[in-house]
Formats: sequence, structure tokens, C-alpha cells
Amino acid sequence: MFRTAVVVGSIRANSLNRKIAEILIGMESEGLGLHLVEIGRLPLYNEDLEGDPPSEWQKFRASMTASNALLFVTPEHNRSVPAALKNAIDVGSRPFGASVWEGKPAGVITVSPGAIGGFGANHHLRQMFVFLNVLAMQQPEAYLGGASEFFDQNGALAAEETRKFLNHFMKAYAEWVNRSLAPPQQSIVTRPIRAGRHGTFDESQSAPRIEGMTPTLKP
Ligand SMILES: Cc1cc2nc3c(=O)[nH]c(=O)nc-3n(C[C@H](O)[C@H](O)[C@H](O)COP(=O)(O)O)c2cc1C
Repeated sequence: MFRTAVVVGSIRANSLNRKIAEILIGMESEGLGLHLVEIGRLPLYNEDLEGDPPSEWQKFRASMTASNALLFVTPEHNRSVPAALKNAIDVGSRPFGASVWEGKPAGVITVSPGAIGGFGANHHLRQMFVFLNVLAMQQPEAYLGGASEFFDQNGALAAEETRKFLNHFMKAYAEWVNRSLAPPQQSIVTRPIRAGRHGTFDESQSAPRIEGMTPTLKP
């Protein structure tokens, strides 16, 4: 069983993103251990505080360190990530060398009442992930636009298509997490290989040993 931190980029009480995140948590079926990690009370990142870090930072960092995987569900603010989410990412990324994000698999879903579904926030987040070495799932992308129409009066999803898409996303995400966290496989090439005049050889000039294959050398 994994532990997957779900981070909602909105700190608004009636957040559409939080509703989607809660639905995703309810859908869990593949041992992801999804749980919400709150970011709304994190003091603004300031390196001066690292000598005696605020308790909220410490709790957040501990919770993230204990998580194997990440799922971000966020709105877009001015075509980028909301300040609360940027702050959480900054807090988690320091002190230098102790980033809580390092090497973790992640999914990104952006949700907006607007037409383009938070595309700008989605990709600004992915840009940060390059630097932070977060392994963001590439496909399927999830830009959920028109989100103010998603819910019925009881707060349930109004359209079956939305649920289907979220199911599809979560299936791919579970596969991504499982693949990313699987123990490394031994290389199928058992000896070092170098290029030779007549093809590709191993260091002892015999045919390369590749398990399960009969090597053929081109003349
Ligand atoms: C400061 C601010 C900037 C916003 N900028 C965008 C934007 O760039 N693109 C967009 O689609 N919606 C934008 N919105 C609207 C949000 O998408 C909308 O408020 C959404 O409901 C927020 O998500 P939530 O319901 O999860 O809180 C903005 C809202 C605020 C308060």
C-alpha cells in the first residue's frame, strides 16, 4: 500500500478543486492510499526562518516525506498556480538538498470554471517539476474546464462523462505510480558492449549476451 499526498491548490471553503479531489479520493481502488495534505496555513516561505522552522512547515514536510506519490488538483490564478500552492512547493523544496519532492511520481489535474481548464497553471506546475525532479505523468492530460457546471444540487457529479474521465485518469495515474515506484529491473545486457568494425560486440569479442535473444551481427 502506497501513501499518496493529494494537494489542492485552492484554499477556498467551497473550492471546486477540493470537491474533485474528494471525489478522486472516494474512487481509490488500487492501493494508492490517497489522503489530503493541507497547505492553507503554511507561513510564507522565508529562508530566514530555517534556523527554527515554523511548526506548520515541519508538519507539512514530515507528511510529504512520508508520502510516496503526489496528486495535485489546482485552479489557475492569473494563468499560473495560486500563491498558496507556489508557497507549499517552495516550503517543501528546502532546505537545499532535503526537498520532499525529489523523485516522486505525480499527477496533475487543473479545474476551472473557465474554458481552458487551467492550462496555464497545469504547465507552470510541470515546469517546476522539471527542476524539482518530480516525475509528472504525461498522459492523459487533465484540463477540466466549465467546472461550475460539474456538480448537481447534492454536490455529486452531474455528468457521467466527467466521472468516466476521472476514472480513466486515475487508472493511468495508478499505473504510473506503480511503475515509477517498482524496484529497478536488472539490465538485460549482462556485459559491457562496444561498437566494433563488423557490428556490436561485447568486450570479449563474443556475441553480446542478451537474455532471451539470439544475437545476430550484421556483416
Ligand atoms: C486571483 C484570481 C485569479 C484568477 N485567474 C484565473 C485564470 O487565470 N484562469 C482561470 O481559468 N480562472 C481564474 N480565476 C478563477 C478561478 O478559476 C475560480 O475562482 C475557481 O473557482 C477557483 O478554484 P476553486 O473553486 O477550486 O477555488 C481566478 C480567480 C482568482 C481569485
